[in-house]
Amino acid sequence: MPESLVDPAMKTQTVLIANAAVRRLLSRSIAKKVRWVLALGVMTWLPFANAWSEMGHRLTCDVAEVHLVSSVKKKIQSLMETLPDEQRNQLFEGEALEFSDLCVWADKVRPLPAYRSVSSWHYINFDRDQLTVDYDRCVAGCILTAIQTHLYLLAQPEVEGWTKLQALMFLSHWIGDLHQPLHVSFADDLGGNRVKVKGYENCSNLHGVWDDCLIEETQLSRVELKAQLLNAVGSFSQSSGSILKWATESAELAIHPRTQYCRQTEAGCLPWATRIYVLDSDYQAKNWPVAKERIAQGGYRLAGLLNAALGP
Ligand code: ADE
Ligand code: ZN
Ligand code: ZN
Repeated sequence: MPESLVDPAMKTQTVLIANAAVRRLLSRSIAKKVRWVLALGVMTWLPFANAWSEMGHRLTCDVAEVHLVSSVKKKIQSLMETLPDEQRNQLFEGEALEFSDLCVWADKVRPLPAYRSVSSWHYINFDRDQLTVDYDRCVAGCILTAIQTHLYLLAQPEVEGWTKLQALMFLSHWIGDLHQPLHVSFADDLGGNRVKVKGYENCSNLHGVWDDCLIEETQLSRVELKAQLLNAVGSFSQSSGSILKWATESAELAIHPRTQYCRQTEAGCLPWATRIYVLDSDYQAKNWPVAKERIAQGGYRLAGLLNAALGP
């Protein structure tokens, strides 16, 4: 969103609220926090919110894996062995985890009763007339607090084994979601899930176009896509920035006219159209480069977070 729409005071306030929340978190015992995470995890159930397709999430992990330092990679490999047999059999056809499974696990567990609730953790919404992303919208749990929580758990030396692996898998998925622009979007249309569009054979709503069809339409294999993404990473300067900044980038991309999601007016960001509409004929040509960059950024930044949380 344009900088002028972002109130710096509000930004500071929301960051402070977030910091206070983290401080409160820090002051409790690890066991309590783990219970809190699990309890929040069973509070809500919403449909939709799939995030990047399985391919998009696997690619996020593919990019991250290349940028991990070797000690962190080793730690992750030993954590991966703590996956309970029950989940291995139920979710991974009895096979041991491979690295990219870390990024898709959070979607695979969604039908399981113990994880049913975390649907609202896959995204954050902001107001059509405010256009700032902040933690106020996150009181019941959203992607920002999910990332804070799982990053915190991951960095704790006392948190080990299966609990730590779950934090790692949640975080790896959330960072991918945070970079999908329509996961930082408006609530009234469920982040574009209710926005009916034409232009892609396999996607009938705008959210699905961004989750799936932009990637699918390239008709490239995962190996080919990975090569393109790693190429894109070459142009990134640093993995630095804050979670709020990365969320704000997504919001800006979501409301950009190129996305055909909102019409910016003095009254705020109105729906692009009130009925089903046809996406521009060059939608793919204009938007795939954006999606590609976001997946690459997500993977690269995930590696930065993992290196920092698990590094020596
Ligand atoms: N998926 C489901 N609901 C959503 C929402 N409100 N915002 C973004 N993604 C969603
Ligand atoms: Zn998700
Ligand atoms: Zn989605």
